[in-house]
Amino acid sequence: MKVKILENRQLGGSCFSMSFEWPAGDAKPGQFLMVRVSEELNPLLRRPMSIADITDGAATVMYKLVGRGTAILSRKKTGDWIDVLGPFGNHFDPPEDKKNIVIIAGGIGVPPLLFFAKHKRDRNIVSVIGGASKDDIIHADRFAELGAAVIITTEDGSMGRHGVVTDALMELEDVNTGNAYIVACGPNSMLRAVDLLTIELGLEGELAIEKGMACGFGACLGCIVETVHKKQKVCVDGPVFRMGEVKWE
Ligand code: FES
Repeated sequence: MKVKILENRQLGGSCFSMSFEWPAGDAKPGQFLMVRVSEELNPLLRRPMSIADITDGAATVMYKLVGRGTAILSRKKTGDWIDVLGPFGNHFDPPEDKKNIVIIAGGIGVPPLLFFAKHKRDRNIVSVIGGASKDDIIHADRFAELGAAVIITTEDGSMGRHGVVTDALMELEDVNTGNAYIVACGPNSMLRAVDLLTIELGLEGELAIEKGMACGFGACLGCIVETVHKKQKVCVDGPVFRMGEVKWE
């Protein structure tokens, strides 16, 4: 589907936010869109991008400048057209009785969790947002506007608490009393640490995996992840998995 870009702006560091017309209706937090960055044959493949918001006929995604494809995307202007498919994948689905939720967002893992916080304003949410430095911390203010308590961690101490997200997680009262449900998205190294800690603490939760994808709908087998059940496709069986499901390399 060809859609018109409404806004494409740099958030800070190498992170960008892009909004475009979205007549295809709503989606659920955790689902993603497949964005084709150019009409040219190279780069050919679409990029999976988590949905950060859908409102009033517009969708917002965020992306990090990491290569030629995202560099092309970053130069798009308001009024340009891009080709977007979706939404794809499953979604975060915390049980109704899990009232105290701790969000763990690392770097560009923020977008689906922002959408999640908007959808789950009936829960008590603490957002732990982490990155290597302050340039990686995006939209902490948006989580606060959605009613979440916000804790920021940076590995170099340039913003918030000096350390990593798991340090902050272990100090939360709801975590220590066994009342927290953990919802995470970010780099795999962070997800692995959060997953192992969640299980070790006897808690439950979900995480959304970031993985390169070629098709986005189960046809290419390019997004396989090993789980305790079997090999699964991140694009159709995920991107959201239960804590303890993924077998980390
Ligand atoms: Fe093609 Fe998942 S991206 S099967």
